[in-house]
Amino acid sequence: MDLIFATHNKNKLKELRNILDTDINIKGLNEIGYFTEIEETGATLKENAIIKAKQIFNKYNTPVIADDTGLETDALNGEPGVLSARYAGEDKNSTDNINKLLKELSKHNNRKARFKTVIAFITAESEHTFEGSIEGSIAVKPTGDKGFGYDPVFIPQNYNISFAEMDGKEKNKISHRAEAVTKLANFLSKEYKNK
Ligand code: IMP
Repeated sequence: MDLIFATHNKNKLKELRNILDTDINIKGLNEIGYFTEIEETGATLKENAIIKAKQIFNKYNTPVIADDTGLETDALNGEPGVLSARYAGEDKNSTDNINKLLKELSKHNNRKARFKTVIAFITAESEHTFEGSIEGSIAVKPTGDKGFGYDPVFIPQNYNISFAEMDGKEKNKISHRAEAVTKLANFLSKEYKNK
């Protein structure tokens, strides 16, 4: 089947292709020539995932998935959460976001955190969401150069290295997105087996 993944993020696309079945043909937004940023105006990860998927579905009328991810910390009452991408400001990048997070957390002892992902899957007939999460903690300084986003400061529970120090395969075995994508993959293989 053909599926559009409503993202411009090449890393996410690569992760998804590595986890999903190979007979699903996944195209990212750059590959279909859609270069406009989709505004995340929802109050929750789930709302944002649905907003992104619907915007693309309404234009292309092809099955679409979209994800939204947030990093929650206990000491900051769940921040940056739904604001993870814009934590340091609209025009800031991942390094700025990490620096802000480390500065805010330096005032606290509790460094517990988790990544959460919601994937929305929209077709002409239905709308479904799939969730994944991973517990961990925020390191005092960034380490590693793999992955993206907050990976250099996220240490998954029961590990002593950051996501950015793991190779992609290892991250894909345990990550928030892997859990949500695996749920989506199980659903797709049941629903679309004979199509
Ligand atoms: P979004 O889902 O693309 O809106 O991502 C929200 C924020 O979380 C962005 O700052 C991303 O860079 C970051 N992010 C999303 N997924 C991951 C991940 O797997 N590791 C680290 N950061 C991530």
